[in-house]
Amino acid sequence: MQYFDRHEGGENAILVHLDIHQISDPDDLEEFRLLVHSAGANEIEVITGSRSKPHAKYFVGTGKAQEIADAVKRFRDTHEDGDDVIVIFNHNLSPSQERNLEATLKCRVLDRTGLILDIFAQRARTYEGKLQVELAQLNHLATRLVRGWTHLERQKGGIGLRGPGETQLETDRRLLQIRVNQLKAKLEKVKQTRAQGRSKRQKSETPTISLVGYTNAGKSTLFNRLADDNIYAADQLFATLDPTLRRVKWAGVGNVVLADTVGFVRHLPHELVESFHATLEETLEADLLLHVIDASSPDMHEQIDAVNDVLSQIKADAPILLVYNKIDKSGEPAGIYYQETNTPARVYVSARDGIGMDKLIQAVQELLSGNLHHYIITLPYHAGQLKNTLHELGVIEHSDYDDTGKEVLSVRLSASKLKQLLGQFKLDAKEVLSPKDAKSLAPALEPFEEAIQQSRAIKNKNDEHSLTDLDPFCH
Ligand code: GTP
Repeated sequence: MQYFDRHEGGENAILVHLDIHQISDPDDLEEFRLLVHSAGANEIEVITGSRSKPHAKYFVGTGKAQEIADAVKRFRDTHEDGDDVIVIFNHNLSPSQERNLEATLKCRVLDRTGLILDIFAQRARTYEGKLQVELAQLNHLATRLVRGWTHLERQKGGIGLRGPGETQLETDRRLLQIRVNQLKAKLEKVKQTRAQGRSKRQKSETPTISLVGYTNAGKSTLFNRLADDNIYAADQLFATLDPTLRRVKWAGVGNVVLADTVGFVRHLPHELVESFHATLEETLEADLLLHVIDASSPDMHEQIDAVNDVLSQIKADAPILLVYNKIDKSGEPAGIYYQETNTPARVYVSARDGIGMDKLIQAVQELLSGNLHHYIITLPYHAGQLKNTLHELGVIEHSDYDDTGKEVLSVRLSASKLKQLLGQFKLDAKEVLSPKDAKSLAPALEPFEEAIQQSRAIKNKNDEHSLTDLDPFCH
């Protein structure tokens, strides 16, 4: 059921941004302007100022409130009746501050949470995303449902009124509560369906890689590049709201599920993090997180911190690969940077120009299965299945035959993956590898062999378990 009508069309906005506690943060203002633009509004004027603390009644001081009222009047004096203006604050306002401002300014006032929710409302694509947005909007609205909105009658629809806002005047709290309960029940159902989908993926042992990152970092562009797909990517914030999943197959990695997620912003109100918890659940389930970073942004470090904050809030504990994107602008060379433990920590790429994609895939491969080495495998006659699996993984670089007619494969994969495959197909390393390679594999082979024994014991007990349960990254 489409319960609320959606309003389309840009509108004119006066932006208000104060430096509180004399902390000047011009980047924050830039981001705010981008958010307003993202919501589809035309910026008429930016009113700035500073205060040591917010004014209790209006958030801004009375003088500043008058300055805003003058700007509203100026706009109305020079524009027709149907062409109205909205005042958007880069701050969270209390319901009473919002009401007092609306009464004084005689126009719609929107705070930062309302603005972000409006962007979410416009960008939500999936059923679940729409439900989540509507729920978050209704929760935000619930505290603001009061009489006395008659001063706003000349405004119909617009930013902050898309979704539930438009029927706000006719909706009483009881109706609102009914709708909230309906939404919660629907969301619960969707969650269950998702959980089933996830367990199917887990059963097929396909690793999930989630792209996370600050808004506008280039997640969708990278996702498209990696998935060779075309979802909506634009120079607007929140081009992606719902996790978008693609199954892709990469050489050396095999099948993986790629998940694109909503972009983070600084000062995302906590209630929104809660509301979008399910949206971020893909992130929690991931085997690997690609944290996409706009390396050309002067604000890069704050953005990295903002994403890390959210990830720790939702207790995401998967390994993280930092993907520094937009090197075509920032100038770094493409490449992988390793930690002391020899695992990839950072990759430098340009998703737009397709630079460094091979490095990124190599780093993902190493993170999912360990550092890569060359091996020569002499296939016993009964090892057709191993060959198929190696082929599936895309790790065979060359194939030939020896004097006895056995197939000899040159492969590039990690020691742990090779050990796991040999165990899986019950092959002896000494039988299929050169003595040197078999030896290099040997020291770590013992605990692995022990794992095989354990898994066989489990398998005997319960047929549902298999050796592959021991290694979440195997295919
Ligand atoms: P949200 O959906 O807001 O979270 O954004 P996102 O992280 O998905 O970013 P998106 O892929 O929509 O890209 C944002 C802007 O950055 C678009 O204009 C892209 O064309 C641009 N962009 C992405 N990757 C690169 C890159 O490697 N170099 C340059 N110069 N621009 C890029």
